[in-house]
Amino acid sequence: MQIAIDGPAGAGKSTISKFIAQEMGYLYIDTGAMYRAIGYKALKENIDLDDNQKVDEMAKSSDIELKITDHGQSIFLDGADVTSHIRTPEVSMAASKVSAIGGVRRTLVDLQRKIAGINNVIMDGRDIGTVVLPDAEIKIFLTASAEDRAMRRYLELKEKGMEVNYQAVLEDMETRDYNDSHRAESPLKAADDATVIDTSGQTLGESVQTIVEFIKSRVEA
Ligand code: DC
Repeated sequence: MQIAIDGPAGAGKSTISKFIAQEMGYLYIDTGAMYRAIGYKALKENIDLDDNQKVDEMAKSSDIELKITDHGQSIFLDGADVTSHIRTPEVSMAASKVSAIGGVRRTLVDLQRKIAGINNVIMDGRDIGTVVLPDAEIKIFLTASAEDRAMRRYLELKEKGMEVNYQAVLEDMETRDYNDSHRAESPLKAADDATVIDTSGQTLGESVQTIVEFIKSRVEA
């Protein structure tokens, strides 16, 4: 069984996917964390994000693993747990940039398909229903207004103790949305057979409820 959840940044995809994975015993695959790990490594190694070939080679020679640890799901890059480093605004922007590189996408999509091939999965990202898992049994395109998504992300970062400014979060999100939906390779868009769910005006808790009910009704049908 494969469940694909796509949508723009801050729509609540990961919170919902984690919840469903736990409820249903599925493996959750956070594909954004993989692009973030590559963005993080490029920043750390001072690789020019516009040098597609360098970033592509670096991604190919990187070892990326998702593992369950005491803190929930963690992402390992070349054997080191980088989970706590990949959620900063700088890494978000770097992830968006490296994700536009075709070679990087091919490397990570191969890895994502490999994991999905041997497990019941719920996978979230931008191109899961369109490219990574075109035959997924359930496809959801989750969205909400940019203002609502920015507010959720702002509260999430603040809760983690980060210094944040709502306007800056909103602007970053709008830039990333634009980049992610206008790139040539696998741009963010709803698959033709996806169910589009707009959670504008709902809190994250309410939207989790909406999606959980939808997925359960589809799985039971
Ligand atoms: O879901 P996220 O915000 O953690 O993703 C970080 C960036 O990675 C996002 O701006 C676009 C990119 N991404 C992608 O291109 N394809 C995916 N399947 C997942 C993420």
